[in-house]
Amino acid sequence: MKNASSNNSSKKNAGYKAAEYVKDGMVLGLGTGSTTHFFIEKVGMRIKDEGINVMGIPTSFQSLLIAKQWNIPITTLEEHDIDLSVDGADEVDGDFNLIKGGGAAHTKEKIVDYAAKEFIVIVDESKCVEELGNFPVPVEVLPDASRMVIQALEDMGAKCEIRMAQRKDGPVITDNGNFVIDAKFDKIESPAHLEIDLNSIPGVVENGIFSQMVDKVIVGTEDGTKSYR
Ligand code: A5P
Repeated sequence: MKNASSNNSSKKNAGYKAAEYVKDGMVLGLGTGSTTHFFIEKVGMRIKDEGINVMGIPTSFQSLLIAKQWNIPITTLEEHDIDLSVDGADEVDGDFNLIKGGGAAHTKEKIVDYAAKEFIVIVDESKCVEELGNFPVPVEVLPDASRMVIQALEDMGAKCEIRMAQRKDGPVITDNGNFVIDAKFDKIESPAHLEIDLNSIPGVVENGIFSQMVDKVIVGTEDGTKSYR
């Protein structure tokens, strides 16, 4: 469930730019996805080249593995508060509301990004939209509740699909052992209200709308970056 038009040099520019905000001694939230991959890589390079001392709290097995590959020390929310979290997004609107979860990691991402003192979003230009909703909203659900949750989502006007795995038969299973329902709404008038309404359906673990959480957006272009706020 990814945006086909995204571009690697733009993602790299955004990820590398965000790594400039990392300071010695920080605890970092490590988002998930192909853009955040570049951020983690650059943090790893800064540890190696500059000897900065940082720790990372991963939001998925993917970001854990990349962090380990770059020898970034890992910690947990039990042990540390987060100074800065950097994460990608599937859509960003003009008010900095997000849709996330294209990689099915939005539950841990929301916990980590929300906990951070500062949250920076890194995207390429294809993710910037006027209004959220072209991308379906990923909804993580307890497997036993999926039929009832789909019914509730359809009553709210969404078209729903249980996300299917590639190279594994059956549904995507999240890092938390759950299913993901992709819920396509015709129009999302109030991201903040929809975020709350979705989480009030019994069986929903977390949804991919992140409203009113973002401090800064870095948009990568082919030859640089633009920063907002
Ligand atoms: C992971 O579930 C997502 O929230 C990602 O952060 C989001 O899909 C952006 O991923 P890319 O950077 O790979 O586009």
